[in-house]
Amino acid sequence: MSDSMDIQRKMREDWDRRARVDPRYWVAATTEADEASYELSAEADAAALLDGLRGRIGAQARVLDLGCGIGRLSAQIAGRFAMVVGVDVSPAMIEAARVMHADRAGLRFEANSGSDLADFPDADFDLVFSYSVLPHLPKDVLESYFLEVGRVLKPGGWFRYQFWVGEPHEASENDTLTIRVYDREAFDRLNADAGLTVREVENIDYFDPVLKLHPVWVNAERTSAPVRRPTAIAQRSGSDAGEEQELEYGLLLYLAVKHDEHGNVPEAERVLEQCIAVAPTRPEAYIQWARHRLDMDDVPGGLKILESLNDNVPDCAPGWLYRAQFAEAVGEKAVAAMALDRLATLRSPDPNLRRESQAIRRRLRGGR
Ligand SMILES: C[S@@+](CC[C@H](N)C(=O)[O-])C[C@H]1O[C@@H](n2cnc3c(N)ncnc32)[C@H](O)[C@@H]1O
Repeated sequence: MSDSMDIQRKMREDWDRRARVDPRYWVAATTEADEASYELSAEADAAALLDGLRGRIGAQARVLDLGCGIGRLSAQIAGRFAMVVGVDVSPAMIEAARVMHADRAGLRFEANSGSDLADFPDADFDLVFSYSVLPHLPKDVLESYFLEVGRVLKPGGWFRYQFWVGEPHEASENDTLTIRVYDREAFDRLNADAGLTVREVENIDYFDPVLKLHPVWVNAERTSAPVRRPTAIAQRSGSDAGEEQELEYGLLLYLAVKHDEHGNVPEAERVLEQCIAVAPTRPEAYIQWARHRLDMDDVPGGLKILESLNDNVPDCAPGWLYRAQFAEAVGEKAVAAMALDRLATLRSPDPNLRRESQAIRRRLRGGR
């Protein structure tokens, strides 16, 4: 693997991958992960977006939605303003947005570079808004966007955005998912450098139990020119994004569980396959998927999945036991015995595994 990383490309590929799995889930992150809760989130978040503008933005305004995803919010507010333009680093998100909102006048969507607004001239917009985008960005990308927002806003225009301000929470410079929290000083500097004066900061009605913090809506007015133009985004030297992988994997597993709860087995399995692609050395998704195959009376299918679990996570003791159980069920005694042998080489503190393993061995030998 190359040790130099193009972060724009990574952002594009990461969000394209997420969009291909389930764009609604990845933009709205609703706890139910279904169509109805997506729609509710769009209405509620658009209402908060509009209310917080305090009537400052007129019907003739040109509006930019930075990181628009599939147009969840821009579609809600189109028609209230002369033009709403959504930009997003992910062409897959943009494609889906265009399909979903093809019939809407005064609304268009464009893929962008992921770090600037080079497609737009200076002083082009009356309002730029951004929801659930900026906190996911690497810091240099974030700084670049702030400077760009200052450039494309008309004097007296507004930037309304969702953000996290408090005890700093950092992430790897390659991470495209983890939420970053900025302290007040960094937050003030971002705005000041962009020529923005913060007028209001309001808590959003959600409390994150891990960060122990509410996100905020910020209203910032464009009161002067940005202090500089953004510089090119630096190449990264490493590929570390462990926290991001954990988070993405966990969110996908959750989505698979939700599909299960809604009885949507093919979707659950598609998402589990994606879990494995994201984190091939984590065992849970293989096991869940193999159980699915068992429920569907497809034990050979389950066995194949367990085989790749054993290949990719050879120290997962339950993986060998499951392989033995599935192999026994389809009469592959040699495979079952091999799996038990492998299990025996692992130190498993779980007595249930040992007991079940011994029971299978007895049956393989023809005993009870
Ligand atoms: C959590 S979603 C929110 C989408 C949308 N704002 C909404 O509220 O429905 C984050 C979005 O930001 C986009 N995004 C991530 N990094 C970006 C970047 N560097 N430039 C532009 N868009 C980006 C993603 O593709 C994704 O659509």
